[in-house]
Amino acid sequence: MNILAEKTILLGVTGGIAAYKTVDLCSKLTQAGANVRVLMTQSAQKFVTALTFGAISGHAAITDLWQLYEGEKIGHVTLAHEADLLVIAPLTAHTMARMAQGLANDPITATYLSATAPLLVAPAMETHMWEHPATQANLKILKERGAVVIGPESGRLASGASGMGRMAEPATILEYCRILLAREGPLSGLRITITSGGTREWVDPVRFMGNRASGKMGVALARVARDLGAQVTLIHAAMSVPPPIGVNLVEAIRAEDMLHAVLDHLPETDVLISAAAIADFRPKVTHEAKLKKEAGTKIELERTPDVLKAVGERRKEIGKPLLVVGFAAETTDLLANARRKMARKNLEMIVLNDVTAKDAGFGVDTNRVTILTRDGAAEALPLMDKEDVAFQILHRVRGLLGAASIGWSPGKGSVLP
Ligand code: CTP
Repeated sequence: MNILAEKTILLGVTGGIAAYKTVDLCSKLTQAGANVRVLMTQSAQKFVTALTFGAISGHAAITDLWQLYEGEKIGHVTLAHEADLLVIAPLTAHTMARMAQGLANDPITATYLSATAPLLVAPAMETHMWEHPATQANLKILKERGAVVIGPESGRLASGASGMGRMAEPATILEYCRILLAREGPLSGLRITITSGGTREWVDPVRFMGNRASGKMGVALARVARDLGAQVTLIHAAMSVPPPIGVNLVEAIRAEDMLHAVLDHLPETDVLISAAAIADFRPKVTHEAKLKKEAGTKIELERTPDVLKAVGERRKEIGKPLLVVGFAAETTDLLANARRKMARKNLEMIVLNDVTAKDAGFGVDTNRVTILTRDGAAEALPLMDKEDVAFQILHRVRGLLGAASIGWSPGKGSVLP
């Protein structure tokens, strides 16, 4: 699943020192399979050469409006119409002003006027230029016309001063490219809640009972669901991986927190995917002060709530979620245990993983799963990247929703914050 593959992205580069970071962005987009066409202003070429972008993108960078007419069918109109996305990074105060006014005297502004694709801009400038009422007024105009503005961020500036004005990092801009391209994806309009990570049950202020879950599978599901156009809520316990941008984040550390967070979100959840490793037991007492060795060796435990069981009960009352997917981390009697869990927890689908395998399951980037559904099917998938596993799960979720015609049809969602 690669939303950037074969997408035509017009990358406008204007004259700011951050243009050097755009080289990295261009490289990342190209490596992800996008067809990147770089457009540069004269000032941009003072910072980075057209040759650099040409070599990285595999297409000569366009530096002159008339250069667009040298090919057979190229012109700013043709180029603009081929675009899936227009990105301008860095965007200087000057080009922003020209865009706001509708001037069209360079390849970037002319293309901006002709393009109907979504627009993403990453402004970068000195703090006072950014704060100037003229810049802010121009920014407002661009936003009102639908531009998605990323950054600027605060930090060290080229002048040596510190303040607002740094261009957003290429990795962040890349994530937003994915989000914008997802807007009309196959899951657009669908609200998916995903639980992720491993819960922690507190013994005292220092110690907890936890588990090996890293959150990688849940984060992969959230990112891929977002890239397919869904509106995603990620309810996460402790995770060792950063959550994706552009999803609604809710922290829930203990099983009890997870229960409340999930139940609170049910009315707005079409699909619930419970990838979190939720504790089954917790200490009966959480001590307020750190326990001393002298306290002994015994910790008395009690059961935590079963989140999916509670979801099953609430679902009968409110009719949501339409579909529930669970995970089964097993070490023995895998298929039989997973089938029993699917029935007991009233799930439409369960994703079974053998957590004894070294290259699959906890903490690694790959997983080998078997997907079981209520019709008795059990599809064993080969070892694959967790994002590919996520795609396989979501693809089947989409199939089940369509097949059962249970009240969801693709629509236009908004995944932007
Ligand atoms: N789960 C849950 N509430 C719990 C424990 C687990 O909702 N207190 C969910 C998990 O998120 C997962 C599914 O139930 O989607 C199965 O989790 P697992 O730990 O494999 O199963 P358990 O219910 O704990 O059953 P067992 O102890 O028999 O393995």
